[in-house]
Amino acid sequence: MKVKFITSVLFACALAFPQVGRAQHTEFCPGEVWSDTEGNPINAHGGGILYYEGTYYWYGEYKKGKTVLPEWATWECYRTDVTGVSCYSSKDLLNWKFEGIVLPAVKDDPNHDLHPSKVLERPKVIYNKKTKKFVMWAHVESADYSKACAGVAVSDSPTGRFEYLGSFRPNNAMSRDQTVFVDDDGRAYQFYSSENNATMYISLLTDDYLKPSGRFTRNFINKSREAPAVFKHEGKYYMLSSGCTGWDPNAAELAVADSIMGEWKVIGNPCTGKDADKTFYAQSTYVQPVVGKKNAYIAMFDRWNKTDLENSRYVWLPVVISGEKITIPWHEKWGMEVFDAKLK
Ligand code: DGJ
Repeated sequence: MKVKFITSVLFACALAFPQVGRAQHTEFCPGEVWSDTEGNPINAHGGGILYYEGTYYWYGEYKKGKTVLPEWATWECYRTDVTGVSCYSSKDLLNWKFEGIVLPAVKDDPNHDLHPSKVLERPKVIYNKKTKKFVMWAHVESADYSKACAGVAVSDSPTGRFEYLGSFRPNNAMSRDQTVFVDDDGRAYQFYSSENNATMYISLLTDDYLKPSGRFTRNFINKSREAPAVFKHEGKYYMLSSGCTGWDPNAAELAVADSIMGEWKVIGNPCTGKDADKTFYAQSTYVQPVVGKKNAYIAMFDRWNKTDLENSRYVWLPVVISGEKITIPWHEKWGMEVFDAKLK
């Protein structure tokens, strides 16, 4: 009897945890440790997602090792050594397989942008249908944050390896927090905090997505916005961003535009519920549409742990669209069915 009971329990577990005893995630648990399919904490900070041929790819800062505050620091520029950009793949946005470091640090050249002594933040990857290349844009920095450049890398496959092409100041302007966005017509844009983070630039990229085209606009002038995350819903463009308070949280802001290059109109803080005025102690990085579901977008935030950056957490929340109103309510736990519930 006992043996029979144990056998049936084991059988039930095998069904529930098909990957050799590894539990499948069925819910998002914002702010909690999120393990990959091998059971290791996901390490992809300041990240973004690319959906390509039925698979989601999550790219982010692979923050490994000790967080330090350089001796010369007069402000809280906590940093870890650059180790590279990680990539994870998933079919359901919940269970992520580590695909490796797709853009590794360059350890043997102290002058290289990707040397461990530098800073690499907010990598984002887009796919160019014409060239069939995967193009990565990232913020590349010096340890004292004076470089303010965008770095570009390219690959033939979503899982790399990416070849680093170099860095520059797009449109001869500083470029720090950044994202890239591909519009329905195939045109791609880089959004970046410029003018010492005072003003958000929106820059149309060349057809191969490798450089700025020269067409750009200045937005939120002197409003000091960073952490841009852009999505398009029913023909309108939306931008989530944060204020500039280093690694510390502040209130998020949502803005809307009829045309991607602007003019952008501020809507206000879309976050609701516990700690909404501090963006749930997190900062925006990306908004990912759930493919195959109507009106379903996931807002991705980083909950930075500034003195132990590797142990920063992810806060992913559903974007709730109700008529003209867009909110991002706090959830302790949630599953994809929230989007179905909204449609009822
Ligand atoms: C806030 C930015 O959003 C982060 O990506 C990072 O650059 C920190 N500032 C550094 O203080």
